[in-house]
Amino acid sequence: MTKSLWLVLAFLCALPIVVPASARAAGRCGHHTWCDARLSPDARAQLLLAALTDAEKISLLGGDDIRGVAGGDHAHTGTGRGVPRVDLPTTLYSDGPLGPRQGRTTALPSPSALAATFRPALAFSAGSVVANEVKSKGNDVVFAPTVNIMRNPLNGRTFEGYGEDPYLDARLTVPWIRGAQAQGVIADVKHYAANNQEGIDPSGRSGLPGVPLGAGTIGSRYTSNSIVDERTLREIYLPQFEAAVKSGHVGTVMCSYNLVNGQQACENKHLLQQILEREWGFRGYVLADYGAAHNTVPQLKNGLDFEPWPGVSYGPAAVTPPVLAGQVSRATVDGHVLRILRTLFAHRFFDRAAFRDDDEQIDRRRHARAVQRIEESAITLLKNRRSALPLVPHRGFKSVAIIGAGADRFVTGGGSGNVKPFSYETPREVITRLAARRHLRVTYDDGSDPERASAVARRAHVAIVLTPNYETEGADRLCLTLECPNAYGDQDGLIRSVAAANRNTVVVLETGGPVLTPWRNQIRALVEAWYPGQSGGGAIARVLFGDAEPGGRLPMTFPRAEGDTPTAGDPAKYPGIGNDVTYKEGVLVGYRWFDAKRIAPAFPFGFGLSYSRFRYSALRLRGNTVAFTVRNVGRRAGSDVSQLYVSIPRPRAGEVEPPHQLKAFQAVHLRRGQARQLRLRLDSRSFAYWSTRAGRWSVARGCFGISVGRSSRDLPLRGVIAKGGAHCRTRR
Ligand code: BGC
Repeated sequence: MTKSLWLVLAFLCALPIVVPASARAAGRCGHHTWCDARLSPDARAQLLLAALTDAEKISLLGGDDIRGVAGGDHAHTGTGRGVPRVDLPTTLYSDGPLGPRQGRTTALPSPSALAATFRPALAFSAGSVVANEVKSKGNDVVFAPTVNIMRNPLNGRTFEGYGEDPYLDARLTVPWIRGAQAQGVIADVKHYAANNQEGIDPSGRSGLPGVPLGAGTIGSRYTSNSIVDERTLREIYLPQFEAAVKSGHVGTVMCSYNLVNGQQACENKHLLQQILEREWGFRGYVLADYGAAHNTVPQLKNGLDFEPWPGVSYGPAAVTPPVLAGQVSRATVDGHVLRILRTLFAHRFFDRAAFRDDDEQIDRRRHARAVQRIEESAITLLKNRRSALPLVPHRGFKSVAIIGAGADRFVTGGGSGNVKPFSYETPREVITRLAARRHLRVTYDDGSDPERASAVARRAHVAIVLTPNYETEGADRLCLTLECPNAYGDQDGLIRSVAAANRNTVVVLETGGPVLTPWRNQIRALVEAWYPGQSGGGAIARVLFGDAEPGGRLPMTFPRAEGDTPTAGDPAKYPGIGNDVTYKEGVLVGYRWFDAKRIAPAFPFGFGLSYSRFRYSALRLRGNTVAFTVRNVGRRAGSDVSQLYVSIPRPRAGEVEPPHQLKAFQAVHLRRGQARQLRLRLDSRSFAYWSTRAGRWSVARGCFGISVGRSSRDLPLRGVIAKGGAHCRTRR
């Protein structure tokens, strides 16, 4: 090589490495090597990691703003430090599943309502709306969705989750996350895992509207230890997290307050390392619920990456000493930082401008329409004697009385899922408007005095009673009636008085989950509207008048009596003895319990009436595909949710198997007289049980019952699929 060539080469090597402008994404990354958008998120994270000092790396593990959690305008729920020296920006976090908890927002129907739609496309839409607003308020990460199973309907967070079935839960979780992450926001699936109660506040006072957070002390989420066997974990409490990771590619997972089988969830080696990381291949980062991180060293060793608040157990003062003492290796710290950085790179955090906190960016009208569509598809018609609904004025029907505490206010739940709507119209306002168009006279009573209310009801042809309940994070309800907690007065008494005064009484529940309905035989129609969100008034009114179909089906069983639920009557199950909450019912959660124990519910899982009627026929099984025909045999267009349940044979004597489990569903809208053939495909997991002995999903040899119909208790089509060479009769 000539001397001049050497000189040229030496000159080139001495140049600082600058990424060509064409390779840099338009963002705030700067001119560093890791800003080359052609590199993989892994490679970029490695480059940035190498540029950080030890102190900077440690500073990334803990959050640094403790005030945001209180909520309010422009207050981010959480903050992750940046490193200005290397142009690493601050990361901003916001709650939550019903909308950002940061000033006013488009208030979504409760996730329990979303679950009632049985429509994954609407979950995508809900995730998009929430994340779009989270981003428009300047945040990078949203603490949602909440996917914990409703083990016990008393749970104060029932409204925030997707009900009692892991398959339905997973089918909604995945599109919610996709919808959110398509907005460029990182989703955070929570709370991992077996976080199924808040605790009992014997005074009942902390769980009332206006109190930011309940304070359950008996069986408290902060101290309880969920004792749950491996099979139950895998089959009931984890599938929705697994789907969030494997199919939703969720960016972050929030570990929960409680212990699981004796070890804090945020330092639980089995949950975080064995299952989440090794088995499911999670590549994002694990962050702790607020105050759920306690012990620095086991957390560092077992898989917690970030503590958003209060950033104490992962603050520099807590992390530096064990690292210097060699108790925790530098490589371990690097591993956590790498996960955080890789996730940020994967979600283009560096390659875009910071999201601006400015509500003007929000398309409020579009979002209001989207949440109304969700609510209309969520409203669940539980009873409709003599076709009392929809309300169609005729000679004997000229007036309607609107009654009750839920008629003229915005109803929702409390805690981190609490949202303040941009605007809302109450059911009373919209019912009055739609009634006027039909020349109906409308009267109103707030229901606070049952005698006065029944006088109003007596003078009208139809009485509509709208009754809310209150559920909140932090405290469970003390009982399952509408009066627990007593936030809105004696609603059951009100319904009884009105029903006694008017035989055409329609009750509209605005509850986050199951309540007792002891008066259900005294009324004409019963509608569950859930926490209906800011467009709920319009949705409820449109459904009552038949301008929209009641699209919902129950994502959780409504029991006849409180003692019928899987966790009732045994303090070891709930609220626990000492701190131990033993999941003795195992896999028999929700309808699995009611069906196995042959307990008749008030309204079963999957149930909901349409204004039309549907007939099922022509079941055909080919391989793992189940085909059948649904026909609208009613007098108007309507929607149906066809449900497919699989009965898994007992793998071994002594092993408990639920009588049947939901494994597929499909919502369809059909014109009057229209028929559609549906094909629902099952996968191998649909037939599998978790074999604790083998440590994996297994399919037993045997005959698997296939049932198709309109609820867990109404399954007119039956067939059998053989597995493992078993000889089966073709019909059950
Ligand atoms: C809740 C989380 C929430 C966090 C921040 C906690 O109390 O359990 O769901 O995201 O607070 O508000």
